[in-house]
Amino acid sequence: MSFEVRAIDESEFRDWQRAKRVGFLRPPVVPDEEVADRLPHTDLSRTYGVFDRGRIVATFQSFAQQVSTVGGANLAAAAVTGVTVSPTHRRRGLLGRMMADDLAAAKERGDACATLIAAEYPIYGRFGFGVASWTTVWEVDLTRAGFDRRWSGPTAEDGGGRIDLSDGAEIRKEGPELHRRVAARRAGVTDRTARGWDVGTGNAYSPDPWTEPFYAVYRSASGEVEGFVAYGADDKWSDAKQPVNTANVRDLIAVTPAAERALWRYVCSVDWITRVTTGNRPPHDVLPLLLPDARAARVLTHADMLWLRVLDVAKVFEPRTYATEGSLVLDVRDGAGFAGGRHLLEASPQGASVTPTTAPADLVLDVADLAPLALGDESAVRLAALGRIEEATAGAAARADLLLRTPLRPWSMDIF
Ligand SMILES: CC(C)(COP(=O)(O)OP(=O)(O)OC[C@H]1O[C@@H](n2cnc3c(N)ncnc32)[C@H](O)[C@@H]1OP(=O)(O)O)[C@@H](O)C(=O)NCCC(=O)NCCS
Repeated sequence: MSFEVRAIDESEFRDWQRAKRVGFLRPPVVPDEEVADRLPHTDLSRTYGVFDRGRIVATFQSFAQQVSTVGGANLAAAAVTGVTVSPTHRRRGLLGRMMADDLAAAKERGDACATLIAAEYPIYGRFGFGVASWTTVWEVDLTRAGFDRRWSGPTAEDGGGRIDLSDGAEIRKEGPELHRRVAARRAGVTDRTARGWDVGTGNAYSPDPWTEPFYAVYRSASGEVEGFVAYGADDKWSDAKQPVNTANVRDLIAVTPAAERALWRYVCSVDWITRVTTGNRPPHDVLPLLLPDARAARVLTHADMLWLRVLDVAKVFEPRTYATEGSLVLDVRDGAGFAGGRHLLEASPQGASVTPTTAPADLVLDVADLAPLALGDESAVRLAALGRIEEATAGAAARADLLLRTPLRPWSMDIF
């Protein structure tokens, strides 16, 4: 059976949106407000549908994104989203076709990589994607965390600043700069657009009911905004008339350690709150160790977050910084032909270059296994132990770790 795979036009957007809803198991009804809200923000030239007898049976979309790398530079990425195939047409290669077209277009455009957040772990490795960052969500039992319940605001230890309640408008004003500052010192942060801030603060149409969170902003002693937290709370009381409320943190962005500590202490000291869930945090977040009793924090989720597909080895490995000097010959296998070949990476704190080489390989690896190394998250020694990287030169994996790993693990704050 032959299907037509192509970019959609404006008149097909509602049907495309409906097909996407079917794939994501959401009611297949598209209100006018949804079309009016989404269409102006949709790049139709990168919004693909698969047509079977005129009906859209698969959807796929990509958009231009910036991903921070080690040292704060940004990589140009094709961010993949809206991927669905109708249950009536699954496992006939439709995802594979749409992905191949979009990756080829991204390579042609000159993007360094493609990115996505995977619904299920096993889907995307075959297309050369690998996990570049992980996420951890904790739940904190405040009844045993040991925090001082008399805490009444930031102390000298918290930078001597202050915390004020805020609102969505102020967060939309102050948040983007805080987000950018975090991206400048941490890899894996994907840019949050003005629309992302609107959606995240209830300033745009939402198909789901919106509940306004509480916002609190941290200001340093000199009055500079250094962070904020957005959290929701339920309203629960035990039979014994004890408050047993949970604060669900939706966003906590801080640009100084003092602000970060103060904001966590704040959320963990709100009266009536006995439990905090942290939302998406980097796996080595400070929070658990900030608790006098770190065992009060229990991991709810630990999972892959940002998947990255290297399209150009030089464009991914040259812009990042390196704490030490070293070189590596990477022999990359890439069935799709985008990033394959033997690459010489020569790096130092002064800069890095990636050039084609015929020198003997240090490491032989599939393109998907470049992703966990690219932003410094994963250990090459560990990947070699898994049999995913072949160490062609003895000791090369340990050398790669010295060169590529970073003290701060990447953190991808945003789902797209
Ligand atoms: C995931 C989904 C898009 C796959 O589409 P599809 O057209 O069936 O995929 P393809 O036929 O192109 O599959 C390509 C390969 O990936 C495999 N694959 C696809 N989905 C998979 C999954 N969920 N788990 C494991 N393997 C999967 C296929 O078996 C196939 O393997 P093969 O080449 O060895 O035969 C589709 O099942 C779907 O819409 N699921 C629900 C929505 C969803 O999860 N979307 C992804 C959001 S990130």
